[in-house]
Amino acid sequence: MNASQLSPAQTPDQGSTQAPAAAVTASGGHSLYGGVTNRRVTVRDLAAAKQRGERWAMLTAYDALTAGVFDEAGIPVLLVGDSAGNCALGYESTVPVTMDEMTILSAAVVRGTKRAMVVGDLPFGSYQESPPQGLRNAARLMKEAGVGAVKLEGGERSARTIELLTESGVPVMAHIGLTPQSVHALGGYPVQGRGDEAAHRLQRDAKAVQDAGAFAVVLEAVPAELAAHVTETLAIPTVGIGAGVGCDAQVLVWTDMAGMTAGRVPKFVKQYANLRAVLGDAAREYAEEVRGATFPAPEHAFK
Ligand code: KIV
Repeated sequence: MNASQLSPAQTPDQGSTQAPAAAVTASGGHSLYGGVTNRRVTVRDLAAAKQRGERWAMLTAYDALTAGVFDEAGIPVLLVGDSAGNCALGYESTVPVTMDEMTILSAAVVRGTKRAMVVGDLPFGSYQESPPQGLRNAARLMKEAGVGAVKLEGGERSARTIELLTESGVPVMAHIGLTPQSVHALGGYPVQGRGDEAAHRLQRDAKAVQDAGAFAVVLEAVPAELAAHVTETLAIPTVGIGAGVGCDAQVLVWTDMAGMTAGRVPKFVKQYANLRAVLGDAAREYAEEVRGATFPAPEHAFK
């Protein structure tokens, strides 16, 4: 769930030369941020981070330029979420997003990054039919886009698909709790896991995806206490979004986190910047200078 539901590539070497943001805060030379410099983060790195209790951040990305910024900042895992539907492609939900769109966006994010593990989302309708359908589309994202892992929604109901994918060599990040691809069945984006029965269902889902071979699981819109309990009981990392601080990792939709989204953002979003205002001001100032013939100035013109 992201706020809009409520309401020529730059290489990663260009731009900031600052060290990865979290290198100073991570736990010593073996940290995800500080320890891995010349290769992509792998599922083994994430498993080791859970073992030593190191928390990590995931962000969504939908293009090479933005992904390069996050890679330079030391974000170890980038999700090419189907939230691209709302955040980049102008749809009202994630439902219309296609495999062709996810393949193009995922390939761009892979091209724009060097270190981050890139996880590509399997969009609605690309895996629900059967496990072989899921494998075919996961393989497409790996072969054509170059992602290192895929994400798909559903707990017990997706376990057979996760099993086939992982047996076939596809690392799978599962996604349980609120699953936005089911927006029409859920009648919106309600918090999940409230009440005994729903909490037990969430715990069964978590265990099912772990047993099926998922290397991590996103918990979306789940009460914090329940998410912390699930995190303690699982061997694989949990990645929370609207699930409190007790998860092993956190994920936010980048346009929400950076203040690019118009209108209201969900309660669980913290806005770390106000890029919408910054970009809008830049565009207005540019237009004003063009109208007033102060741009281009002599220094922007050729002799
Ligand atoms: O599509 C997406 O961005 C997601 C995250 C919100 C977890 O699934």
